[in-house]
Amino acid sequence: MKKIIIIGFLIAFTFAAKAQEFFKPEKMVETGVYYYPEAWNPDQWDRDFKKMADMGFEFTHMAEFAWAQMEPAEGNFDFKWLDKAVELAAKHNLKVIMCTSSATPPVWLVRKYPEVLIELQSGQTAQHGTRTHGSFSSPKYREMTTKMVAAMAKHYGNDKRIWGWQIDNEPSHYGAYDYSPAAQISFRNWLQKKYKTIDNLNNAWGTAFWSGVYTTFDQIEIPNKLRMNAGPASTTSLVDFKRFFADECAGFISMQYNTLRENVSKSQFVTTNFMHIHTDVDPWRNKDLDFISYTMYPVAGYSKGLGDQGFRLGDPWRISWANDFFRPLKGVTGVMELQPGQVNWGTYNPLPYPGAIHAWLWNAFAGGLDFVCSYRFRQPLFGSEQFHYGMVGTDGVTELFGGQQYSRFMKEIRELRKLYKPNVSMPAEFATRKTALLFNPDNVWETEIQPQTYKWNEINHITRYYSSLKSLCVPVDIVGEDRDLSAYPVVVAPAYQLVDKDLIAKWKKYVENGGQLILTCRTGLKDRNGHFFEAPWADAIAGLIGAKIPMYDEMSSETKANVTFNGEKYCWNTWGDILEPYFGTETWATYADQFYAGKASVVHRRVGKGSVTYIGTDTENGKLEKEILKKTFEAAGITTNEQPEGVMVNWRDGFWVAINYSSTKVSINIPTNAKIILGSKDLDIAGVVIWQ
Ligand code: GAL
Repeated sequence: MKKIIIIGFLIAFTFAAKAQEFFKPEKMVETGVYYYPEAWNPDQWDRDFKKMADMGFEFTHMAEFAWAQMEPAEGNFDFKWLDKAVELAAKHNLKVIMCTSSATPPVWLVRKYPEVLIELQSGQTAQHGTRTHGSFSSPKYREMTTKMVAAMAKHYGNDKRIWGWQIDNEPSHYGAYDYSPAAQISFRNWLQKKYKTIDNLNNAWGTAFWSGVYTTFDQIEIPNKLRMNAGPASTTSLVDFKRFFADECAGFISMQYNTLRENVSKSQFVTTNFMHIHTDVDPWRNKDLDFISYTMYPVAGYSKGLGDQGFRLGDPWRISWANDFFRPLKGVTGVMELQPGQVNWGTYNPLPYPGAIHAWLWNAFAGGLDFVCSYRFRQPLFGSEQFHYGMVGTDGVTELFGGQQYSRFMKEIRELRKLYKPNVSMPAEFATRKTALLFNPDNVWETEIQPQTYKWNEINHITRYYSSLKSLCVPVDIVGEDRDLSAYPVVVAPAYQLVDKDLIAKWKKYVENGGQLILTCRTGLKDRNGHFFEAPWADAIAGLIGAKIPMYDEMSSETKANVTFNGEKYCWNTWGDILEPYFGTETWATYADQFYAGKASVVHRRVGKGSVTYIGTDTENGKLEKEILKKTFEAAGITTNEQPEGVMVNWRDGFWVAINYSSTKVSINIPTNAKIILGSKDLDIAGVVIWQ
């Protein structure tokens, strides 16, 4: 297994080398901030860039929403104002990330070519005056975008002051889908390409149900739930639409990537900034980009976090998840937008806990990020984000508390760089725990369309496993099925509903060769078209897990059922697979009540040199799942290092970083021979400690 791990690391390293070239390893992480010159008096630009540089920023970010200013009339490009801003940024030694502004078409464009606008689910056409309302499917929008991108690329593509490029902004339609005539045509073409014949489509969609059958591709419309009084005849059609939409978005980004790459210097990187949790697009579809990056807002009224102050700190796992999701694709990533303070768009917008922003910055560092960029430098005086904090406040000069925490972080990073040593290898006890978390957006889309219980939330199920792994101090890569699993001693595939023979064979081979595989409820129920197999329930995985699953149960939140593991009871009610283990399979946990009391809930078996653990029950707090993970690692002879609840520990470039996301002070164990560089083992709320 060790040999396999080393080969796996080597493969990952060669894969990443190209993306790494854009960054200097000894800088570890570089810090920047958004600036919108078009929104501010040009007389203030010099002062603002100077202030950025004085605070410690190393780069700035421009032009992502400035199409109207860059192309005031069709084909008339004006970069003079932007040249001035670039010049002033350079004067203060700030590198520039230049952005294509395809998220915000100018008014002349949408009036002259109204077909570029998306059509909402309600049948209404989107209006000018918002953003992300240009259709990814519209040939005209693609043409106009390409012209704008080419003009920018020709102007700035060989400018040494430009560090790299960001395409678009948070590619998506912010949760909306496009039902425009252009999207309808493109969807039909996509289906035709995928299925070749209408019979194949009918089979895949299962249209021999409610007379759903089609006789030609022309008859197909994008399925629109608002226009269906009784649900869709084909759930597969909805999954296909989600797949199509993700492809369409990726295609729009790739189109811009190609235009940029034709014109810009090899030394400038090209990326885009996806939202960190994205259920309508799929960042991994853009494998062509030099690397992918993400945007991050931990505190906006949507997450309770841990304890009474958790709503001011955010979920402990959130930044780590993004690091581990975006980094493995190319071995490089950065956070393109990190929350600077209060925002304006949450259901309510609390103040982040004192020090929380500083903690988020270190969390980004700890995840191996090459850069962090804050959205935004100045608090806007107008527009729909008025209450949104910046690094400086409404007067344009006073550092707000977020700005102060950035300044502090940037000072600390400069000190840490002095201790940087190249090519330090990951501590052995950490490396031997390395875990791959398998992810496929199809499983998210499919279970969102057919949750089967109001309590099912695929992302929550997956992130519960993820956060348990992190609290056991396990390094995680979130990866797709194409990834070579042999580099990972442990693989977790949570609620992996859609499978095929090849995937099951890959899992089997992985465990036979010594891997520890953990599968969880709802895995292996359907084929890639979302059909149940014509076989006993979950037959696809029965041989692998060493158990039959004759039935599953689900209850309401009011019913508290229990699972017994190691003499402790764990409450559940969302989903429970009731297992019948084969001879030789160990039962690790059983149902404590209901009419199937005593039946197995968690099973484990050794296969070849490895093992398979199947966790059939989903609990709301994830405590059972965490205990089972611990036992699986233990059974394989792999140590873990459990941290107090809410503490995230990571290692990078020779430094250990621990962050306290809980609402109480905690003390952590740091080896006595370690050298503490920052903070102490007694962590305040939002406290950070770094040691070597
Ligand atoms: C992001 C978006 C930014 C800005 C920010 C406000 O999601 O990409 O453009 O709107 O939110 O918090």
